[in-house]
Amino acid sequence: MVNKEEILPDREFALDLLKILKIPLSVRRHSEKVADKAIEIAQKIKKVKVDMNLIEIGALLHDIGRTKTHGFKHALIGGKILKHRGLSVKLARICETHILGGLDKEDAKKVGLPERDYLPSTLEEKIICLADKHMAGTREVSIQERFNRWFGKYGKTKLLEKSKNRIEKIQKEIEELM
Ligand SMILES: [Fe+2]
Repeated sequence: MVNKEEILPDREFALDLLKILKIPLSVRRHSEKVADKAIEIAQKIKKVKVDMNLIEIGALLHDIGRTKTHGFKHALIGGKILKHRGLSVKLARICETHILGGLDKEDAKKVGLPERDYLPSTLEEKIICLADKHMAGTREVSIQERFNRWFGKYGKTKLLEKSKNRIEKIQKEIEELM
């Protein structure tokens, strides 16, 4: 028997769930693009095994919290929605850790989240976090371009600088597994 906390729905279920919760169309399109990008990255990884189902479904659902808010809290709320529905805690973790390059305790406090780490730690969490940074809406961008846009909008804040360093480290780590 599958442990309830391990339930990984299929693609159809994930897309239906987004529709039922009335996710904006733009977010659904973004999520599909992030899933494509995450799969593309994961397929290049040769040195270790990657859970491809988790990559696909996790990416499709990573922004599910945006059905409630577009603020930083959408990460936490997304995790809660999935846990409430009895879906895999691995999916909830993907939601919680996808913001910027992940948030440490200090960052979390700054953006008004409960003070703890929201850092991608598993390979699947890291791949989805990276794929999300490569998708500005539905347009593929480099990490540099993505952060340049944020720097232009919010200034070169410590939060963004730290985040950029973190995602570049994740990118390097993933590339070394290819
Ligand atoms: Fe998000």
